[in-house]
Amino acid sequence: MLDGVVQGELSHGALLRQAVLVDGEVEVSWQGGGASARFSPFWLRDHCHTKESLHPETLQRQVDTFAIPADIAPARLELGDGGKTLRVVWRHDGSVSVLPAAFLKGIAETCGRITAPQRRLWDRTSMGQDFPTMEHAEIESGDAGLLRWLSMVEENGFALASGVPATLEATQQLVTRIGYVRETIFGGMWDFTANLAFKDTAYTSAAIGPHTDGTYSFDSPGYQMFHCLQFDGTGGESTLVDGFKVADQIRKTDPLAFEVLSSVKVPAQYLGDGVHLRAEHPVIGLDHNGGYAQIAYNNYDRAPFSLPRTRMAAFYRALKLFNELINDPAYEITMRLAPGTALLFDNWRTLHGRRAYQGYRRLCGAYLNKEDVESKVRVLRAGAK
Ligand SMILES: [Fe+2]
Repeated sequence: MLDGVVQGELSHGALLRQAVLVDGEVEVSWQGGGASARFSPFWLRDHCHTKESLHPETLQRQVDTFAIPADIAPARLELGDGGKTLRVVWRHDGSVSVLPAAFLKGIAETCGRITAPQRRLWDRTSMGQDFPTMEHAEIESGDAGLLRWLSMVEENGFALASGVPATLEATQQLVTRIGYVRETIFGGMWDFTANLAFKDTAYTSAAIGPHTDGTYSFDSPGYQMFHCLQFDGTGGESTLVDGFKVADQIRKTDPLAFEVLSSVKVPAQYLGDGVHLRAEHPVIGLDHNGGYAQIAYNNYDRAPFSLPRTRMAAFYRALKLFNELINDPAYEITMRLAPGTALLFDNWRTLHGRRAYQGYRRLCGAYLNKEDVESKVRVLRAGAK
């Protein structure tokens, strides 16, 4: 199994220029310049890449972290393979640790954390009418096509596939090219009409305001695919809002509201159909760098909770602002999902809704886990290098 910390994000082609001991730490610099980086001897021993320390097949850590002397120190620092590796000869037992320059550069740049992808935040004007779309045949033609489509989703928070056969089977085939279908209380692949099969407004023909799904789940579905298989009626347009764009707007214009929305954990629940799911998320989830990680907003599913008086008032004020912006036509795009066009969107970023409709509508779709889609993108990118 790959270990994200051990594997890190490699900075291919990096070469070491020099390694010296400074204040008990190993300071490395790079050929071609750039900021130098420091690593503690303990950390270097813990991240040694020799096969005794890092399993060559599984890339799992073999080092006994807890047997490393707390005062471990290098006797000698050497560069191997013309700067491709750092070799550390340890004073206490003369053993040698080897660490690739590309690995060290990657850690220096990211601290081993997942970095946010390149994103294009959008509103109605900047998105325009030219929605990110790819032909189903191109997506299905090979890994390059699938990676291009998933990269569109990563950048924009959604993308469309056109020319998909209007069947459940073809939709499922498209989903499973990316990852496995996530099972929830709604089943795996859904295929539904307005029949109230579940106690959820999705199973009616009423309008649904912008929201994210699974606010009552600890791990809200990362992605959703919708494919309208049949529509005979009027209305029913789908709406999308870039939640990160709205979050960015609030951050710039109302820091107090932003602080509340990014720190108050809002409980949500699904009660009925034999289950009582409950979880809590801030409306605007941030990553370790303060970047946007996850929007979790569904006012229909918010569970009762209270805060101290002034905090409660601040929460309602901030929630009202968020709700006003996501319902502002300036942030919303609309599309009519017709048979043959599948929509894949990031449920941790893009809020979705639907206008009311009259007539008959059959929609199928599925949830995918966040980690599975990100994994697919990483694997496809690595294969494309
Ligand atoms: Fe939904």
